[in-house]
Amino acid sequence: MYSLFSKFRQTARLHFLRFSSVATNSSSSLTHRFSSPSLRITSVQLKEKKLSIQWNNSNTVDLPYVFLRDNCQEPESFDQVARQRLFNPAFTVDLNIRATDAQVNEDGKQLTITWPDGHHSRYKSTWLGRHCIGNTTMSGRLPVETVHWEGDYYDKMPRFDFEMLLEDDRCLLECLLKVESHGLVLLENVGTQLNQVKRFCDRIYYPKPSIYGRGVMTVENKPNASSLAYLSVELSLHNELPQYDYSCGLHILHFIHQLSDSAAGGKTRFCDGFRVAEVLREKNRAAFDLLSQYPVQFVDVGSDLVGDYDMEAWHNTIRVSSSGEITEVNYNNHCRGPRIPSILVDKIYEWYAAYYEFSHLLHSPDYMIEFRVQPGQMTMINNRRVLHGRSAFKLQDNEYRYGEVCYMDWDEIRSKARVLMKKLSLTL
Ligand SMILES: [Fe+2]
Repeated sequence: MYSLFSKFRQTARLHFLRFSSVATNSSSSLTHRFSSPSLRITSVQLKEKKLSIQWNNSNTVDLPYVFLRDNCQEPESFDQVARQRLFNPAFTVDLNIRATDAQVNEDGKQLTITWPDGHHSRYKSTWLGRHCIGNTTMSGRLPVETVHWEGDYYDKMPRFDFEMLLEDDRCLLECLLKVESHGLVLLENVGTQLNQVKRFCDRIYYPKPSIYGRGVMTVENKPNASSLAYLSVELSLHNELPQYDYSCGLHILHFIHQLSDSAAGGKTRFCDGFRVAEVLREKNRAAFDLLSQYPVQFVDVGSDLVGDYDMEAWHNTIRVSSSGEITEVNYNNHCRGPRIPSILVDKIYEWYAAYYEFSHLLHSPDYMIEFRVQPGQMTMINNRRVLHGRSAFKLQDNEYRYGEVCYMDWDEIRSKARVLMKKLSLTL
């Protein structure tokens, strides 16, 4: 069906590019960026299996009758409160249904179709424009283009004032869009009080529970640690929760106490896994294919606040969509398990060579940034894209690191962003 909408794809693509070209943190540009000329229908023509719609922007789109009947927005077809389809077309709509009439109202803002049983379906031009331009991403991600970054990202990193995020919907929306596009943002002026991570989560929806805690967790050095994160050893770049079939979408960390600037080690590291995966694909396609075609075992056994756990999940190191887009990087050397797929047994040295090459690229200063996150700063990352880690450190007298952390999922983050877009009357 997507090919039917090809004429509108160019328009959609232009919107994507326009959003991504704005590199400012300012929320004042949002209205402009989401405003689009209102679409009007100038004429329609009944064809054999589809309705041809001519738009005021000179585009024409042919929509199949079965698609239009399936997406009828009338109360008999679509619950107006639940906003969900009331019927199953497979049992109620003839696959070869054909409209008997189609009329456009005077201002071109509404289309009315009459069906053989006398039922009328009305469609607003804005609805048709929004839903009939073809989905270029075929995912629920927000309509901003992915922006890859490298080892010079620290100075370019989008930064947001914490109180502004809590008070200003436009600022919060801009922040969520930047996490979608860039994968890592820095929230500043958070202060050093406890419960700021919870305040931020409450502004969006809620944190994701895990084996490490039901909501917001603390990160500090402690004995008998259930995770290396609670020790002072070096943490190689990694994702959180790869031992989950469905790991967390986002990782949010607020530093409350931190080592002094003169202390050795203890600096936080980040790397854009998408960028490095692209580099590997360009440099060594065979290595990229090995990492994107075979899953890795991740395990975690232990006990924490919510009791004993014995976790196992398998993920491809690099996940690629059917269109070749990199959609996930799953990399955690610390909880990578010992089992390998049987199909890899004869290729184990090739797989290790690919893993080594990817690991060296990830940790190269060309692609990794390293800095000491200051008390009162909060980092927010796309956990399926941006890898994080830290250098080893040694606590001196009167020094300690203490932070609060939580996980969230992309579903709720994207939902919040779409709700804010509607609230602010910002539409594509
Ligand atoms: Fe971590």
